Order: sequence, then C-alpha cells, then structure tokens
Amino acid sequence: MQKYLAEPDVTRMVFDVVRAQTLSEALEQLSSWRFDAILADLMLPDSSGLETFQVLQRKASGVAILVTTSVGDERAAMEAMRSGAQDFILKGSPDFRMLKRAIRYAVERKAALEQRDQVIRAAADGMVVIDATGIVRLVNPAAERMFLPASLLGRSFPYPIRLDETGIIEIPRPPQPPTLVEMRVSPMSWNLEPASLACLRDVGEVRRFDEMKTEVAQRRHADRMKDEWVAKISHELRTPLTIIKGAVTELAEGAAAPLRPDQMTLVGMAQHQVKRVERLILSLLELSRLESGATPLVRGRLDPAEVVHMTVSALQHAAAQRAVILTSQVTQSVGPIDADADLFEQLVMNLVDNALRFARSRVRVRLARGTPSGIELSVEDDGIGIPADKQGLLFSKYAQIDRPRGPEGYKGTGLGLAICKEIVALHHGVIKVESAPGRGTAFHVLLPELAEEPSEAGRPEPAHAAGGSL
Ligand SMILES: Nc1ncnc2c1ncn2[C@@H]1O[C@H](COP(=O)(O)OP(=O)(O)OP(=O)(O)O)[C@@H](O)[C@H]1O
Ligand SMILES: [Mg+2]
Repeated sequence: MQKYLAEPDVTRMVFDVVRAQTLSEALEQLSSWRFDAILADLMLPDSSGLETFQVLQRKASGVAILVTTSVGDERAAMEAMRSGAQDFILKGSPDFRMLKRAIRYAVERKAALEQRDQVIRAAADGMVVIDATGIVRLVNPAAERMFLPASLLGRSFPYPIRLDETGIIEIPRPPQPPTLVEMRVSPMSWNLEPASLACLRDVGEVRRFDEMKTEVAQRRHADRMKDEWVAKISHELRTPLTIIKGAVTELAEGAAAPLRPDQMTLVGMAQHQVKRVERLILSLLELSRLESGATPLVRGRLDPAEVVHMTVSALQHAAAQRAVILTSQVTQSVGPIDADADLFEQLVMNLVDNALRFARSRVRVRLARGTPSGIELSVEDDGIGIPADKQGLLFSKYAQIDRPRGPEGYKGTGLGLAICKEIVALHHGVIKVESAPGRGTAFHVLLPELAEEPSEAGRPEPAHAAGGSL
C-alpha cells in the first residue's frame, strides 16, 4: 500500500501516512491528529468485520473511510458501504493501483455529503431521513424539537410515508393539544440506498393566523352591518324629528297659545334637545355617506385661503361669546387644492368648533406650505389639551374624553374628528394632533396641492387677519 501511495501519478497528491496495527492504536491516533481519510482493514487483531468500521465511524464521523478486505470477506465491506463507508478495495486487486485516486474521490465525496448534512441540520424546517426499511437515519434539530421529548433516530418512523404527497400529521403533545405539522416526503439516496426525506413544517402558527384573519373579517362584517343599521335608523328618524322640531318651534312662537314662563322653559329645553338629536343624526348620516363612498365627491380647484377666511369670519360671533380671540394667518405661497368645497369647509368648521370649545383665550388658524409638499392647515388653541394616552382614540367614531360639560352644557357626539379623518383621507391627506395637557392643542392637516403652478393673481395680501389680531 505504502508503495502505491508513494508512486508519482497525475493526481500529484502527497500523503502523510500514519499506520496503526490495531483498532485501539488507530483510535489513539484519531484522538491526537486530524485525518482526511482512513484506509481501514476490517480484520484487525482486536476487532473484525463491520464492527471495525462502526467503531471508526463513531470516532471520526467527518472523515472519509475506505475499507479493505480480503477475498471472501466482501460481505462485511458491502455492509460498511451501506453504513456510510466511502469505498471498498479488495486486497491484492488491481484497484490498489488506483488507490490515490480512490482516496481523493472518497475525500471529495465525504466533503460533499458533510455539506449536504450541514444544510439539512441548519434548515429551519424539520427534516428526517428514513431508509428503505422505514428506520430513521438522520433527524435535524428542527425536527428533533417537533418530536420532543422522544428521539426518532434509529427508530421506525411512526407515520405513513407517501412519496411526493403533502399531508398534515398530528404530533401528540399531552397535556397540550397536538402540534399540527405539514409533511412532504421526497425520494432521495442515503449511503447508496434508496431512502426518503420527510420535510416538516409546523403549521399551527399558520392555522392560528388563518383563524385570526377569519375573526377580523367577521368583526369587520359585523361592524359594517352595525354601520348600515345606524345609517338606516338615522335616516328613519329624520322625518319624525322634522315634525317634532316644527311642532316645538310653533309652540315656542306661541302659534297655539301664548306660553307662560314655566311652559316656555319646558319648550326651550325640548328645542335644545331636538337640536342635539338633529346634530347627531346629521353627523351620523354624514359619516356613513363618507365611509360608504356612495356619494361621489364634488372636487374642483379650491382656494383653501378663501375657505379659511370665510369660516373664521362666520365663527367670530361664537368666539366672541366665549371671549376667545379667533385669528387666521395665511402664507402667501399656498397654492390651490383639488377638493370638495363643502367637505373642506366642514373640516375647518369642525376643527375650529372644537378649538373654540376648549380654548382659554385664543384660537389661531394657519395655512402654510406643507413639508415636504402640499398645504398645511393648522388649528391651534391654548386650552386644556388632550392627555397623550387619549390622543390615539380621538379620530375613532364616538370617541369622547371624559370632561366636564362646556359652559352651555354642550355635549358633543364624538363624531366630528371621525368625519374630519374621513374627509382628509378622501383627499389623500393626513391629519395629526399635537397636544400638551394644560397648554393647548394643535391639529395639523396636510393635503396635496393641485398639480399646477399656483397663480400669483388673487393672492395680493400676505396674510388674512380676522378679529383684528394675529
Ligand atoms: N382642541 C381640542 N382640545 C381639547 N380636546 C379636544 C379638542 N378637540 C377635540 N377634543 C376632544 O376630542 C373629543 C372628540 O372630538 P370630536 O370633534 O370628534 O367630537 P365632539 O366635539 O365631542 O362632538 P361633535 O364634534 O360631533 O359635536 C372631544 O369630545 C374632546 O374631548
Ligand atoms: Mg367636535
């Protein structure tokens, strides 16, 4: 053997050979050195047959092992091949002349197999190699975790193997419910024998995700049904409410008979409540109209500065009644927007109405260029502010923050900001709140500008001042 290894040939390989006379000597050498290949005679003074190979394989699992046997002892060599030996060479046969080449191929093959095993071990999915007799030959860590606490290695695989089919298996996990695992089995070869590779994926998470998706869809459906129902009832209430309103107004105007002061107080209370219900119904219908998208927007070129100016003028009286100074400030470069004029006006109205209700002394409406583009409408007050933990809820329907009622006993419907959010979304914009409790609140609306050059004409003044103060 030494002779063949020393002979120069095309492989130009040079070997460092360490000889061991017995298996125990070989094991000692394997503990001290790292070898590329082992050329093992299966018949040794202290070990014989397949066992020699198995002991060596356990000791040096990553090293290529080639076995040599004498004529008549080939069976053990064949079994060694099935168990993972890289090659076998009959002593005295012409194969010995090819020894260098055989070793080289064996080392390369072993390295490739080691890489394959590494990939299997590192895979996130579970992988199990099952030989032709149904015995598990390799289990990667992901599969081991699925079958814990039992170990499958060396045991018969406990599920039916159907090649090229995907199925769900249930791995018992008492006292918890079983783990659901998707299994796909593909044919492969393992140590030159046909085998199967079972790929396993825990689908419990996927199932739970699907269930959650269904639950969300059901909730959305229920929400939609509720919204439709609320819209229908609101619509139905409009006619009776108009009749009640008419009757109460007539009573208040003394159409039936002049009222005594105590009767007048009662009728006044009824009028106040009718107005409140009317406002609620109108808001509900408006929100439902916006959410459903049933009524198309009447969009067009709109000068936001003009709307701000008009709205602020219209609310000056309300501001004065509350002793609040209401001002507006418009930056010259703010261009036109593509918007529904009624809805934009309602947006400004809702925000200023809120601000006036909570301001201590002043409310400022500002219109400026947005960052990085578009326009920015800001409504700022110096009122009680909104606690940080409540700010997330503000734009949801019916959200109201527990507060003492306003000076006129006003209790809002909690729909104003939800309507604002819808209006802004329909115009592809964003609405944000900034607030410091005790110091004030600012709502900022960012809207895209109309895609054209803003005209210089029609904006002669740098700023509009309403109420004489800026
Ligand atoms: N500028 C503000 N300062 C402090 N709190 C505010 C301000 N704007 C809104 N809020 C709080 O947010 C809540 C929700 O406002 P929203 O406009 O949606 O409803 P509302 O004003 O109560 O009722 P509606 O507008 O339908 O008459 C208000 O009840 C109020 O507590
Ligand atoms: Mg409001």
